[in-house]
Amino acid sequence: MAISSHSSLTENNVAELICLQTHRLNDTGWRMKQKALLAENGALVLSNFLNKQALSSLQKEAQAGLADAYFNPQTHTVYLSKPDPDYDESHIRNRQLLSSKGCICDDQIADSSVLKQIYHHPLFQSALCDILGEEKLYPYADSLSSVNIHYARKGEELNWHYDNSSFAVTLMISPATKGGHFEYVQNVRKADDGDMGFEATRQIIDGETEIQRLSLGAGDLCLFRGRNALHRVSPVEDNSTRQLAVLAYNSEPGISLSSTAQQTFYGRIGSVAPA
Ligand SMILES: [Fe+2]
Repeated sequence: MAISSHSSLTENNVAELICLQTHRLNDTGWRMKQKALLAENGALVLSNFLNKQALSSLQKEAQAGLADAYFNPQTHTVYLSKPDPDYDESHIRNRQLLSSKGCICDDQIADSSVLKQIYHHPLFQSALCDILGEEKLYPYADSLSSVNIHYARKGEELNWHYDNSSFAVTLMISPATKGGHFEYVQNVRKADDGDMGFEATRQIIDGETEIQRLSLGAGDLCLFRGRNALHRVSPVEDNSTRQLAVLAYNSEPGISLSSTAQQTFYGRIGSVAPA
């Protein structure tokens, strides 16, 4: 299992990677404060989470990975599920939106990468657990889905959607210099009550509602609850490339991303490590 294979990381000096003076991962009081902020806002940004040198190393790595990124522009509904024949094609339930960003996968990122050192680090995981209210966090069982770097070039975007998972952890490597904004509206649907928030969702997609923006600088860590918050990354508007790491965890061990989702997002299907 991936966590135990990285257990030597407990020896690592995580202070070389993360700015622990500001982000006091070891401090229970600090963790509880971040937990309260996340609960209140549905989003938490830990600015300048990475130390300068770690950020610089990650930026070089991400830039080199761009040549190997998989781009597969595709349409989807905001609910990321197949159309429902009970509604017509133009209904917000079935409306098709285009997403065009690309990515590289976990097996394309070196074990020595800053991203993987942080992702597997027991202190980082334990702080995340407290902030997110999770008992334990597990990597994906498949070889592709745990750590990804997402790329959006001029005109590319991640269109409006709700997440299936209850939380997302991302690390901004390099924001676009124009466009590429993370935009969202909280509490639009109540997925667990079966309330899909159709009208409120339509108003957002059609630009009739005020939306919020998160300002994310290079080296910022972001925790976001996207199950009931509609969100997107707007199109990049210049020749910069937005580069963002996604650190994906599960609450249970042994979970793989579905083969369909792997094929769609990565263009291939990864291997599954024995339990
Ligand atoms: Fe999302």
